[in-house]
Amino acid sequence: MRIDILSLFPAVFTGFLNESILARAIKNDLVEVNIIDYRTFSNSKHLKVDDYPFGGGAGMVLQVQPVVDALRSIQGYEEAIKILVTPQGETFKQEKAYQLSAKTHIIILCGHYEGYDERIRDYFDLELSIGDYVLTGGELAAMVLVDAITRVIPNVISKDESHQFDSFNNDLLEHPHYTRPREFEGKTVPDVLLNGNHKLIEEWRLKESINRTKQRRPDLYKKYIKGGKYHE
Ligand code: 6GU
Repeated sequence: MRIDILSLFPAVFTGFLNESILARAIKNDLVEVNIIDYRTFSNSKHLKVDDYPFGGGAGMVLQVQPVVDALRSIQGYEEAIKILVTPQGETFKQEKAYQLSAKTHIIILCGHYEGYDERIRDYFDLELSIGDYVLTGGELAAMVLVDAITRVIPNVISKDESHQFDSFNNDLLEHPHYTRPREFEGKTVPDVLLNGNHKLIEEWRLKESINRTKQRRPDLYKKYIKGGKYHE
């Protein structure tokens, strides 16, 4: 999988790409991430990439020319899935992470300023938002996508660290976890986890998952019930 990120702030990505699971996936050639500073594609003398909105109003608008030229500089860009990150996009969900993890080439455009020149949208396949709040730019959103997509690429996470029981995989939140010590300040570990009966443990975990989802995410719980995976 190759991911190209078009950004005006490439330095923002360095720490993120150089630590932990992402760094390991890159080192093991399971994913390649390139950051392209699209300011360098500006045709203007001072490498400007934004301008005043036609019709007036507050804020600046990202221009179409630098973005399209940067896009066209990427080898194989026609075949790549091209994603624009914006609060106006479809909300990014775990299912989309799985879908995108099967692609061979993804391009992500991070916007800034008040908005995109509307014509930029014609060059992209998909618009994604990471939630209902506004960020100063698309970089954090792009990192969220890269992280969520990369961790579900086969072999990025080992069997031990498995993601098959992640929250959201079956419209349920994960069950509670415990590790040593068995007791901390009078707080104990549920007995069922200590007796080695795997069938009972699985039953307990499913019940806890369901209760937790019902309490914390009634929206998700409804989906779970509808999906017919409900058996109590
Ligand atoms: Cl993709 N970009 C920005 N600027 N803000 C956001 C977002 C994206 N998703 C949620 N908020």
